[in-house]
Amino acid sequence: APDIAVENVKEHLTAFENIATENGGNRAHGQPGYEASINYIKEKLDAAGFETSVQEFTASGSTGYNLIADWPSEGSADEVVMAGAHLDSTGSGPGINDNASGSAGILETALTVAKEDLKTNNTLRFAWWGAEEIGLVGSGHYVDELPQEELGKIKAYLNFDMIASSNAGYFVYDDDADLEKVLTDWYAGQGVETDVDTEADGRSDHANFDRAGVPVGGVFTGASNRMTEEQAAKWDGEAGQPFDQCYHQACDTMENVNETALDRNSDAIAHAVWTLTAG
Ligand code: PHE
Ligand code: CA
Ligand code: ZN
Ligand code: ZN
Ligand code: ZN
Repeated sequence: APDIAVENVKEHLTAFENIATENGGNRAHGQPGYEASINYIKEKLDAAGFETSVQEFTASGSTGYNLIADWPSEGSADEVVMAGAHLDSTGSGPGINDNASGSAGILETALTVAKEDLKTNNTLRFAWWGAEEIGLVGSGHYVDELPQEELGKIKAYLNFDMIASSNAGYFVYDDDADLEKVLTDWYAGQGVETDVDTEADGRSDHANFDRAGVPVGGVFTGASNRMTEEQAAKWDGEAGQPFDQCYHQACDTMENVNETALDRNSDAIAHAVWTLTAG
């Protein structure tokens, strides 16, 4: 898989930070900063040749939006590989680690797919979810609306929520052994030790796919839990401190981003996408 340019991922993060600044300090469900975030991504994907669609739903009395993007390819339509991230922040801040990071990581991977004109065996689909922060609502709506036959075609759903925590851990979801291995292989090749996630279970959009019987995987750099001594030693982090010092706070800005984690995890996304789709 190609190396994802972290500078490009950071450019997307800066754009999301600016969107929040111009829209009352957040990119939350039902707020103008959320719609501006959707538009930013959709424009880039449309220009790159993706087939995009916006799915609307209602949550807490406001309209929410999921953005779905298929990469046109000759690959089998009966087998779908998905990568997704929630695009909404909480109302408390711009949500740059949570979760502009995952949103930008999959966006730059999608743009690299287009740049390299990736030929896939199967169907590659990216998704940006709305209203995760108020109960995984957007992804739940997508799963509930999808006909059973379409759901059965999804061979993998990979979730990226918080991939650049300031005091980063490298957690790989252990829900599906094959998908776990695709990701842990990449870190092993880089000499980066990983842990099985314990904080992530059931707490992000992959939970909706998991309950529908879709194999799920993903990576996560940690939220409000504190890093142990053992983890600090292997990840060169700070023991006793939270993985994300600004979780759901106004300080979740560009300054809260761990660039090394952002770079590694963006490359890991590309590795997984290429491994699961390329001929
Ligand atoms: N979903 C949680 C949030 O957005 C945090 C989280 C991310 C938990 C990833 C587990 C895995 O606040
Ligand atoms: Ca890189
Ligand atoms: Zn959150
Ligand atoms: Zn999140
Ligand atoms: Zn798990």
